[in-house]
Amino acid sequence: MRLLITAGPTREHIDPVRFISNRSTGKMGFALAERAAARGHTVTLIAGPVALATPAAVRRLDVVSAAEMLDAVRAELPAADALIMCAAVADWRPRSIHPVKLKKREMSATLELEPNPDILLTVKPAKEGRLFVGFAAETGDPLAEARRKLESKGLDLMVANDVSQPGAGFATDTNRVTLLAPGAPAERLPLMSKRDVADRILDRLQTLAETEKKRD
Ligand code: CTP
Repeated sequence: MRLLITAGPTREHIDPVRFISNRSTGKMGFALAERAAARGHTVTLIAGPVALATPAAVRRLDVVSAAEMLDAVRAELPAADALIMCAAVADWRPRSIHPVKLKKREMSATLELEPNPDILLTVKPAKEGRLFVGFAAETGDPLAEARRKLESKGLDLMVANDVSQPGAGFATDTNRVTLLAPGAPAERLPLMSKRDVADRILDRLQTLAETEKKRD
């Protein structure tokens, strides 16, 4: 398969030295890219700002903001069989980016924000026969929220994790996730390395692709 994978956070600049972002390090998305390429898939990895080396045989495109990530996903999607949105896209961005560093005295206590586009929802009309995989990092009730997003974003697979659990979520080498697909029971995986989680996600993706092929 030709896989398009996004990873890492996005960074929404206030001025050239300040930004809004989140705790994503890109480890899960890079593990997916690495394992997918090792299985012989053709992988394009769209990475937000992260400190990770590009896995072997992976084509990497670096982006900074959600708007840039959306442009890259739009440009690459036509050549992909599946999109895995592992990136932690910032939901909001400053209404304007100051071209030069703001002086303390020029700043106010309030930062005006505007919403970023939802990448999955924006590219949904171009989904056609492609498989879409999403991630939901939650601190509340992960399964209910993930099921809601699976449906609202029209996904084939959702990877849910509770980032408040030890060993799961940001900056760790392990993760504890539950895989959700429409009309299928939830598959709760034990705590395992992100590399093994990546393999389980790719197993499910390959099964979904085979089922789609049989249906055609
Ligand atoms: N996502 C996206 N574009 C955004 C935000 C999120 O494509 N602007 C994708 C993520 O990459 C992930 C999925 O949507 O695969 C769920 O992300 P999440 O941040 O949990 O969802 P939100 O819709 O932002 O929901 P909320 O903030 O209400 O929890």
